[in-house]
Amino acid sequence: MSKKEDDKINLENRIIKPEYSSEDAEVELSLRPKTLSEYIGQEKVKENLRIFIGAAKNRGENLDHCLFYGPPGVGKTTLAGVTATELGVNLRITSGPAIERPGDLASLLTNLGENDVLFIDEVHRMSRNIEEILYPAMEDFGLDIIIGKGPSARSIRLDLPKFTLIGATTRAGQLSPPLRDRFGVVLRLDLYDPESLVEIVKRSSRILKIDCDDDGAREIAIRSRGTPRIANRLLKRIRDFTEFYHRGTITKETADLALQKLDIDHLGLDLIDHKMLLTIIKNYNGGPVGIETLSAAVGEETVTLEDVYEPYLMQIGFLTRTPRGRCVTDLCYEHLMIKKPGL
Ligand code: ADE
Repeated sequence: MSKKEDDKINLENRIIKPEYSSEDAEVELSLRPKTLSEYIGQEKVKENLRIFIGAAKNRGENLDHCLFYGPPGVGKTTLAGVTATELGVNLRITSGPAIERPGDLASLLTNLGENDVLFIDEVHRMSRNIEEILYPAMEDFGLDIIIGKGPSARSIRLDLPKFTLIGATTRAGQLSPPLRDRFGVVLRLDLYDPESLVEIVKRSSRILKIDCDDDGAREIAIRSRGTPRIANRLLKRIRDFTEFYHRGTITKETADLALQKLDIDHLGLDLIDHKMLLTIIKNYNGGPVGIETLSAAVGEETVTLEDVYEPYLMQIGFLTRTPRGRCVTDLCYEHLMIKKPGL
C-alpha cells in the first residue's frame, strides 16, 4: 500500500466504523425503531423477546435480567429501548465505564421505578467492586450500604424496586462468571443479512425524506458490513453526493459513485480492511498469523481487530480463525484479484 493511501487511513474519519459516534446521535434518535414490530431483522431474538416480555407483562412482574451480546452497531441499545417501550416502563441508560464509584450505581438503582429497565452498555467493563454491589441488587433487589467507618461500621440493606437489568456487550466471554450467571435471558445479536438491511435503508430513507430507489437501497445494504448504523451513515453521505451532482434520487449508480469516492469497495471493505488482508497475504503467505502479530503490523489494537473488523470479514467468508492464527480464504484472494501462491 502506498504512503498516500496509508495517510488516508484515519480511524477517526472512518465512515464504516461500526462504533457509535456523536454524529450518529441525531440520526439514530429519529431512526430508532420504538416497538418490536418496527424493528427489522434479528428474527430469532425478537421472537424470544416477544414471548418473555408478554409473559412478564401478563404476570405484572419485572422481565428477567437480559444480556444482549454481539458486534458493535447491531442494535443492542435500540433493542433495550424497544424492550422498555413494549413493557411500558422507563429506560435508564448508562455504561460500564461510566459507573466509577459505588455511589454512582446506588443513585441509578434507587431512582428506578417498579419494573423499570436499567441498561448498562459495555457491561464487561464494569469494575469488580461495582459488580459486587450489583449482585444482591439483581438477585434480591437489595442494596447493601455501609454506614460509618472502622469497627463501628455497619451495613444496612435498602429495598429496591423490582427492575430489569439489560447488559450489552461485544464480548460475552469477558463477563465474569458470577455476573453472567445472573442474566436469565441471554440473546445474541448477529450482523444483519442484506435483505434486512435493504428494508432498514428503505425505512430510514422514508423517515429522512431521502429519495432512494430499490437498487440504490440494495447497493447501500450490501456495502454496510451487516450493520444498520453504517447503512444509515452511508445513506446520509450518499445523499450529499447525490445532491452535489444534482441527481434527485439515490440509485445504484449514484450510490456506487459516492462509495467509490469514500474508498468503500463493492463489499463494503475500506482501506483498513484491505491493509489487514494484504498484510496476511503479502507478509504471511495468507496465514496463519497470530492476532498480536497482525495487530502490530496493521497498527490496530487486538480487540479492535477482533470486535470491529473480523466479524464482517468472517461473515463474508474472507477470513478464518484457526488455533494457529488468522488465515485468508480463496474467496478473499479472488476479491482482491491476487493469485494464490501455488495455484
Ligand atoms: N434502524 C437501525 N436499526 C434498525 C432496525 N433493526 N430496524 C429498523 N430500523 C433500524
